[in-house]
Amino acid sequence: MDAEKTEKKAFARDASAVEVSRESQSHGAGWASLHGGYFSSAEVAAPFVDKILDAACGAEPDVVVDLGGGTGFVLSRFADTIGDVGGIDLVDLDLAEEQLEAVADPRIRRARGSLAGFSRADIADPEQLFMFITRSTLHYLGMGGARNAISHVVSQMRSGEFFIQQTACFDEPEDALAMNMVYQMMGTGKWYPTTRALVGMLLESGFSLESVDDAPVLELTSASLGKRYGFSEAHARAIVESMREFDVGVNGIFEETEEGFVARLFYKIFVCRKI
Ligand SMILES: C[S@@+](CC[C@H](N)C(=O)[O-])C[C@H]1O[C@@H](n2cnc3c(N)ncnc32)[C@H](O)[C@@H]1O
Repeated sequence: MDAEKTEKKAFARDASAVEVSRESQSHGAGWASLHGGYFSSAEVAAPFVDKILDAACGAEPDVVVDLGGGTGFVLSRFADTIGDVGGIDLVDLDLAEEQLEAVADPRIRRARGSLAGFSRADIADPEQLFMFITRSTLHYLGMGGARNAISHVVSQMRSGEFFIQQTACFDEPEDALAMNMVYQMMGTGKWYPTTRALVGMLLESGFSLESVDDAPVLELTSASLGKRYGFSEAHARAIVESMREFDVGVNGIFEETEEGFVARLFYKIFVCRKI
């Protein structure tokens, strides 16, 4: 089988490929303004970038790979903050061509591939010291895929290397369930874990957990979600109706508004190290 066919087959097995193509109209040039500019805000990214910086100053990696790095915003902020990136090879690995095409920072090298299927040796000299980061990607893998993706990432790492990730997860199982219901009603297969389940996956996969901290909440209006996933205001109202049957609201993850609803994703930053 030639390389192109092998690559296509690997993408087909990866549930995130479906999610990425479903929202492809939001990728690229318009990505920065999506959801109130959350993914292009230096202020929002600061707690995550600080964690990456702390780890990088101690570990001095040769290569920093942002798995699902989108348009490269986090790597750019990291490079700006560290001042002199010196010889650090900054690599944005993403499934979406449109995202990689929109990478404007010349300090960033682009690589197309899946975080659930990449090979360390395809990114850079595997003997070098790597650091892996990712923000807001694991939910693309769906309910069954996050664990496999984490296992895959750990399989590509050497002992002592860092994996620093910011992922939406919920302390209360009811909140995770409610958010997953909302996403299902929006027609996506994205899946959000409880904090406990995510911590379990990380530890069972062979990581030690150095720290877990809250990151800024992402507020999603039904109008912006409708644009991203292609549903109407009428459908947003139908989602509101269905959610009335469900006991949500204590932690503010879902609220009715005049236009439809607001959903809130609670993020945490996990500093992990391969044992
Ligand atoms: C919500 S965006 C976040 C982008 C970036 N990490 C940030 O925080 O600015 C998710 C990104 O992950 C990418 N993605 C989703 N699943 C992926 C996978 N399996 N492998 C690589 N990239 C993936 C998408 O194409 C998209 O660019």
